[in-house]
Amino acid sequence: MEQTYVMVKPDGVQRGLIGEIVSRIEKRGLKITAMKMHQIDEETAREHYKEHSDKPFFEPLVEYITSSPSVSMIVEGENAITIMRSMNGATKPIEAQPGTIRGDFAIETGRNVVHASDSKETAEKEIALHFSESETTTYSRIDEVCLY
Ligand code: PPS
Repeated sequence: MEQTYVMVKPDGVQRGLIGEIVSRIEKRGLKITAMKMHQIDEETAREHYKEHSDKPFFEPLVEYITSSPSVSMIVEGENAITIMRSMNGATKPIEAQPGTIRGDFAIETGRNVVHASDSKETAEKEIALHFSESETTTYSRIDEVCLY
């Protein structure tokens, strides 16, 4: 079963979109196995976005991500990485299709509500960066349990 890391970014939290996003993830059939609200510190933010450290938006991005609490989740399921990326929609909200989270709730790239890992390798790194072993759980969703 594939795991991915999902973040409701500070703008998503401030706009009261946590429940909407969690609800979409659950209704899609994906399983949330860890979830916490936390204010990401500067060192963690720099590590998370380090592949973009030479981009002009890097410093404002770090400042924004650390400015207020985010909600981090581990989301599990078949093809969870690809499915979460398609649920989020394109990074630039102007390109995001209606029906996606960004297509429904965002208009600015710098305030695009959600993040999800883009590959298995990134998912492993991001999960390890934001969660300790003791913060993770395992359980069966009712739709995974064979009743007969
Ligand atoms: S790039 O240049 O194509 O590699 O970058 P991109 O994939 O578009 O974006 C990488 C992450 O940076 C965020 N981003 C920004 N944040 C704040 N301000 C600006 N201007 C900005 N531009 C890009 C973008 O949302 C991506 O973050 P995540 O969390 O992965 O969505």
